[in-house]
Order: sequence, then structure tokens, then C-alpha cells
Amino acid sequence: LSVSGGPNVTTESSAGAVLRSRARLPEPFTLPLSVPEVLRPSSSDATTDYYELTQRESDLEILPGLHTRVWGYDGRFPGPTIVSRRGRRTVVRHRNELPVPTVVHLHGGRTPPEHDGYPTDLMQPGARREYVYPLDQPAATLWYHDHRMDFTGPQVYRGLAGFHLLHDDEEDRLGLPSGERDIPLLIADRAFAEDGSFDYPARDPSLRGEPGVTDDFASGVLGDCVLVNGVPWPFLEVEAVRYRFRLLNASNARRYRLALDPPPPGGAAFTQVGGDQGLLASPVLHEELPIAQAERFDVVVDFSAYRPGQRITLVNTLGESGTRAVLRFVVTRRARDDSRVPRTLAEVEPLSRSQARVEREFVFARGGAQHHGMTLWTVNGQAFDPRRIDADPELGSVELWRIRAQNVPHPIHVHLAPFQVLGGGPTTSGWKDTVDLDNGGEAEILLRFDGYRGRYVFHCHNLEHEDMMMMANFEVR
Ligand code: C2O
Ligand code: CU
Repeated sequence: LSVSGGPNVTTESSAGAVLRSRARLPEPFTLPLSVPEVLRPSSSDATTDYYELTQRESDLEILPGLHTRVWGYDGRFPGPTIVSRRGRRTVVRHRNELPVPTVVHLHGGRTPPEHDGYPTDLMQPGARREYVYPLDQPAATLWYHDHRMDFTGPQVYRGLAGFHLLHDDEEDRLGLPSGERDIPLLIADRAFAEDGSFDYPARDPSLRGEPGVTDDFASGVLGDCVLVNGVPWPFLEVEAVRYRFRLLNASNARRYRLALDPPPPGGAAFTQVGGDQGLLASPVLHEELPIAQAERFDVVVDFSAYRPGQRITLVNTLGESGTRAVLRFVVTRRARDDSRVPRTLAEVEPLSRSQARVEREFVFARGGAQHHGMTLWTVNGQAFDPRRIDADPELGSVELWRIRAQNVPHPIHVHLAPFQVLGGGPTTSGWKDTVDLDNGGEAEILLRFDGYRGRYVFHCHNLEHEDMMMMANFEVR
């Protein structure tokens, strides 16, 4: 499959072009999972915790015996996990030691516009900047990542992503698995060049100042190796008890449909307790979990259904060969378990259609605009333009947006405003910030614009589509 002088590309049904690694990949399930370290505040006062992060290059041993140059928060991939508590302010002081401008966005955060990481609100190389997060919102699995206009795909691919977990008292009272048994899992596919470096399509965006993809990858960049917390196809030893996993699909373009192989006898594989924006009203059971880019599923897996010694594989039923495997659990022993999954989790006020005073429609499709000879991905036929406001919701209001996807599926993400999917299925329960649309699919979402006035973006979270302008603005007035 090697094409000399060009990237190694093949196609995976329904997904698009896949970059094939030329470096030697490890046998699946031979490397232990690592859990990103929790960042300690550099200081705290009565109201606020202060953190410091340096965005810098480093060489990590992701593939045994080879080095991968990453762009990471504190040089790590994933970045350190930030853990916050509702009601306390979090301030993160970033310093950019990378050779390119960057932008930090807290995905899922309800953040004032000047701290939300607007795509042109750049930190130049050498710059420092303070991001202030009030985090006056329910406990949730949030994540932070780069958001530089035109370059989010290549910059996240090089490593600029990490977890930001938010806790509150309501969650504490539930008795869900916690501590060592509450594990964030950042799932992302990559391809590796022969020397172990991350492979991303040809035009080097850091050198050229052009969007980082060529037409071959217009549908999105897919790799052939699945990393969990930066480790290729790792294994994790678990006791025969309940665990809570915060699943995040941080891939640029790949979707997964997760299942356990073998499934637990006599029970559902995943008990979902939370979605993008926090805890659900009550748990939802899933045999399989489709997870699109940027979505989070907070799930409990009960390993007491398995025998000590048993191996259970977290598989991606959409994948072929290498991208079918994700992670392997190895059950070690029986153990005491005081955790619970209560039938009632959190208060989730259901929004109704009648609350929406304004309706809008947005079509996500390819076409309508060109750039460097490439057909762009657009919203209502228009390429992203920071100067154009595409919606002007009122502060405190609820709106209904009818969103549609054409050409290929698009996972749509709205900054600031959490939403509920009208008439959605079990995988769209609760408050969300990202919803996946099939090709030709449509969803009606009810959004609540609370918190702050100002300009924010909404966009497709296929990062190559986003970089090719599938993004628009709303301004809360
Ligand atoms: Cu996860 Cu606008 O981003
Ligand atoms: Cu898209």
C-alpha cells in the first residue's frame, strides 16, 4: 500500500482515507494503560485555584524503542488532568513555548467569551496568557484542547489535548466508583512515520501557513493505530468490581462504536451515568456505545460479572483490523466494592419545544466556498468568517436549532450553550454540547444561552472540516 513520495493511504469503508503507519507498531494489549497525572495548583486562595501549564515540545516513547515528538501541555500527551470543584474558580496560566501560535479552549466549559479560546485569539510563541474559568456548572467530564483557526487538526494531532474534570456535591453524594476506580480514557487514532513521528498529511502547516490537509484528507485524517491516554492498544488490570470510565473521543475524524468482548453475562456492557455536560437524570444501559469526535460518555462497567483471570476487550465494532481493538481489561481478583449506581442521579430539567422563541436552521455540507483550490466545508453555504455573526440569541433564552448534515456525517459542537436533543435516542440523553449527525441526518436541539454575552463559535468537530471552515459565530445579546 506504500505510495512512494506520498503518504500511505488506504480506505476504510464509510470512513474515508486512512494513513497507514510505517513505523513498527506494538502487539495490541502488551503495554500498560497510563493515566494522565493530575495537575497540582501552583497556589490557591479563598475563591480560586491557580494552575500553570507550558505548551512545549517533547520526545515521548509511544512506540517501544522509538521517539515521537509531541506538542503537549507540559510536554505530555494527553496533557495533565485538571480537577476542579463547582463553585471555585479555576485560573490556568499558559505559556506558549511552541514554534506556532496557539489557542486554548475548554470544551464544554461555560466560559466568558474572552477566555473561551476564540479561534483568532492567539497566544504567539513566547507569550503567556491567563484563562479564567468560573465553572459555575454541574459536575462533568470536560476537556481542553487547541483551537487555532485553520490549524486545530494538526495541533491537536500533535498532542494538544487533556482532561478537565469538574466535581460537585451532588455527584459526591451518589457513591459512584471513585478514586483509583474513576479513570478517564482519551481515545485517539494516529499514524506513525517510519521514525516514530506522528504522520499528518503532507503540507506542513507550521511551515506554510496553509490549512494542514490536502484534498485526499478532506473527509478527515484517520490513523491506523488506536491510542488510549497516549498508549497504543493498552491493557489495564482491574479488580472484579465496578469502575467508572470517562470516555472521550479526542480523535480528529474517527468515530467509534464501543462494545465489550465478551459482553458481561446477564447485564448491559455500559451503564451510562453522564454525558457531555454532566450527570444524567437516571442511568441508561448500553450494549454498544457510538462515540463521535469530542463526545463524552461517563459510564460504569461492572467487572464482578466476570471471573478473575478473564480478559475483556473494549472493541470498536466500526473498525477494521488495527482499529477494531481499543483496550484490554484483565480481571485480577475479587474485591470489596462499596460503590453504587443509584436509580436517580441528578436533576435534569427537560426543555420543551414551547420554551423556544426563536428557531434557526443550519446545514453542514461541503461546497459554496473555495480556498487554495479546495472546496471548503461550510455552514449554510458559507465559510467561517470571524466578522460575520450567524445567530444572535438573547441572554437567558432558549432557542431551537434544526441542524442538518450533508455529504458525510458531521459531529456538531456548540460553545457555551448546553443543549438537549429533541426526540433523540438513548445515546443523546441529558445535556450535551456535541451531537453527531449522519449523512443526510437532521436533529432538533434546544439550546439554553445562559451566563455570558458575547461572541462564540459553533462548528463541526471533525477537525479537518473545522479547519476547512465548517464553523460559524453566534453572539449572545
Ligand atoms: Cu472541542 Cu470548538 O471545540
Ligand atoms: Cu464535518
